Amino acid sequence: MGKILITGIAGLLGSRLADWIVDNTDYKVVGIDDLSGGFSENINRKVQFYKFNLNDLEALKGVFKKENIEIVYHFAAYAAEGLSLSTILLPMLLKDLVLSSENIIMKII
Ligand SMILES: NC(=O)c1ccc[n+]([C@@H]2O[C@H](COP(=O)([O-])OP(=O)(O)OC[C@H]3O[C@@H](n4cnc5c(N)ncnc54)[C@H](O)[C@@H]3O)[C@@H](O)[C@H]2O)c1
Repeated sequence: MGKILITGIAGLLGSRLADWIVDNTDYKVVGIDDLSGGFSENINRKVQFYKFNLNDLEALKGVFKKENIEIVYHFAAYAAEGLSLSTILLPMLLKDLVLSSENIIMKII
């Protein structure tokens, strides 16, 4: 049986989904988060956790090589409400989101 990868595992959505999967299915969960947000205490003890930024393609390749990933839930991102007027932060956040999402998609296909 393949494993489920959840990015943003320390965040609200990723951690809650991981808890549900651990409690209700036979899937093993692998989680990635750079802990720039979220809380490490959110991470279920049964999750195989990797701490790095998804922009690190080599680290991501390593996870896919080591773990038998079957399903990916990609939650690593920032909600960024209220930042729409920030000309400095918003481009940085968008660049981070686009690069990390591109890395994940390239590994899946
Ligand atoms: N929480 C909600 O009600 C809700 C509703 C609709 C959509 N969303 C969207 O879902 C996504 C996740 O929401 P959330 O509430 O879980 O956010 P969150 O801030 O609680 O968690 C996001 C997690 O992603 C991690 N992260 C961010 N960028 C990363 C990167 N490049 N590499 C590694 N880790 C990274 C952060 O450290 C954090 O732990 C966001 O895009 C949000 O806009 C959330």
